[in-house]
Amino acid sequence: DRPRILLTRPDVAGSEHLDRAAARLGADVVRLPVAAGAAEPDPSALRAAVVDADAVLAQPGDVLDAGVLRGAPRLRVVAVAGVGVDRVDLDVARELGVRVTNTPGVLAETVADTAMALVLMARRRLVEATDTMRDGRWTGADPTAFLGHDVAGARLGILGYGEIGRAVARRGQGFGMQVRHLERPSAPADGVSSPLGLEELLRGSDVVVLALPLTPQTRGVLDAAALDLLPPGATVVNVGRGPLVVEADLLAALRSGRLHSAGLDVFDGEPRSDPDDAVMRTPGLVVLPHVGSASVATRAAMTRAAVANIEAVVRGDEPPAPADR
Ligand code: DGY
Repeated sequence: DRPRILLTRPDVAGSEHLDRAAARLGADVVRLPVAAGAAEPDPSALRAAVVDADAVLAQPGDVLDAGVLRGAPRLRVVAVAGVGVDRVDLDVARELGVRVTNTPGVLAETVADTAMALVLMARRRLVEATDTMRDGRWTGADPTAFLGHDVAGARLGILGYGEIGRAVARRGQGFGMQVRHLERPSAPADGVSSPLGLEELLRGSDVVVLALPLTPQTRGVLDAAALDLLPPGATVVNVGRGPLVVEADLLAALRSGRLHSAGLDVFDGEPRSDPDDAVMRTPGLVVLPHVGSASVATRAAMTRAAVANIEAVVRGDEPPAPADR
């Protein structure tokens, strides 16, 4: 009986790595179709397809909850092509002996570029300026128009000082920002950024970047009380997961003018596509459709890393990047 590897999309960048590994393993690859006009598989189709899979190459948004995992008796590994494993029930996976892996080491620079792009777009009101020109509303040199705030000299506070946070810190330093991060016992001193407690960090940050994983401890870390600690006119950027921020509190702070701006690549509930959704229409808010790691090379590297995890587990070895211990 040949092992079956489920790819939860019809195709992904770097899928040749999967085909090669499958050939080495004597395994079959099952590619899950998506409905016309959709980018993600229907949850019921995903659930049905996992039933006879030995391995799943999943995207970070794929829901592999207790019901899906318990309905898959052959499953040995869920290899997420990404770093966030918040949609996988890690407790049930552990109970069932299903390994869960991710892909550190390949996406931090790309995600940090996205974070820095959001900082610049939000702080300098660049999307508003682009929209004005595209709409044919550029009426000439107005010395009072589109005045944003400089990033040089601004205080950058980073929540989440893993590899993405550290890559954001290097960029911030390159742009002349004063860089600090939320203290973390395991983060080595690097001379780029100084560690601070949450309250002190928020009180002294003109720009906050969230690069935390979503866990029960980090959910809602930026709520109204936390936002109130920021100096007036600050900017919040989130490239981690949407629920790190209490969205209603963020939108209220933007509407009241307490916050200058925000940049979000991630949302509580994705995808968000209703043009009347408040996130599309709140002044000062720049939105991106979860493209943090979306470069050709990085997406291929993520697939390759996920495939290496699958290959190890199917061979009975320890995977290179376990996310379950
Ligand atoms: C991740 O790595 O978790 C990102 O969300 C993928 O883009």
